Amino acid sequence: MIDLNNVLNILNVLLNNCVKSGDTVIDGTTGNGYDTVTLSNLVGEKGIVYSFDIQNIAIEKSKKLLSESGVHNNVLFFNESHENVKHTIGKDVKINCAVFNLGFLPGGDKNITTHFHSSIYAIENVVEMLDDNGIVYIVVYWGHENGKLEKSALDTYLRGVDQKIYNCGRIELVNQKNCPPILLFIQKRVGKKEG
Ligand SMILES: C[S@@+](CC[C@H](N)C(=O)[O-])C[C@H]1O[C@@H](n2cnc3c(N)ncnc32)[C@H](O)[C@@H]1O
Repeated sequence: MIDLNNVLNILNVLLNNCVKSGDTVIDGTTGNGYDTVTLSNLVGEKGIVYSFDIQNIAIEKSKKLLSESGVHNNVLFFNESHENVKHTIGKDVKINCAVFNLGFLPGGDKNITTHFHSSIYAIENVVEMLDDNGIVYIVVYWGHENGKLEKSALDTYLRGVDQKIYNCGRIELVNQKNCPPILLFIQKRVGKKEG
């Protein structure tokens, strides 16, 4: 039985439902590596995970976690901003799924956090690379100042995305106090093209 107490549990169920063996996926914010390891296990040996973080400590922690629990050889780590995603992995790569778990590194420096300008820039780039049915999931922690800005900017961005091409939505726990994280998604509809 799923515990609906936290959007991360819901994200996990959704990832298990949408990510398949052999898929090409992105972790836009490596952090402590939990999402990267989940994705690594789901895409398996024939798939690939591109995992980005601006903090070397996050990459190192995640490599360790991966060596303990993931598939090991299907993850490419990049110690750089997710803003570079198109340039770094190639704009023509088709993406089946991406996760942007925003905010700061749990247990790390709370001053090093995602910012709405670069988050939206990176997400827009990944959205353009989505394959049919491909999905970008975004977890927003809005208990801190940057998170509040991100929540508001992402809300505006998602509401402006063309519904003929993408399905955009939001999952949130409406009866919890203290700004519980929210989960946003953008799914590319089958056979639809921009422009
Ligand atoms: C909430 S943590 C991610 C949690 C992670 N996905 C996990 O499973 O543990 C957010 C991470 O985003 C990283 N970050 C902040 N700005 C970034 C950027 N521009 N590009 C890539 N990563 C960034 C931070 O260094 C931090 O490690």
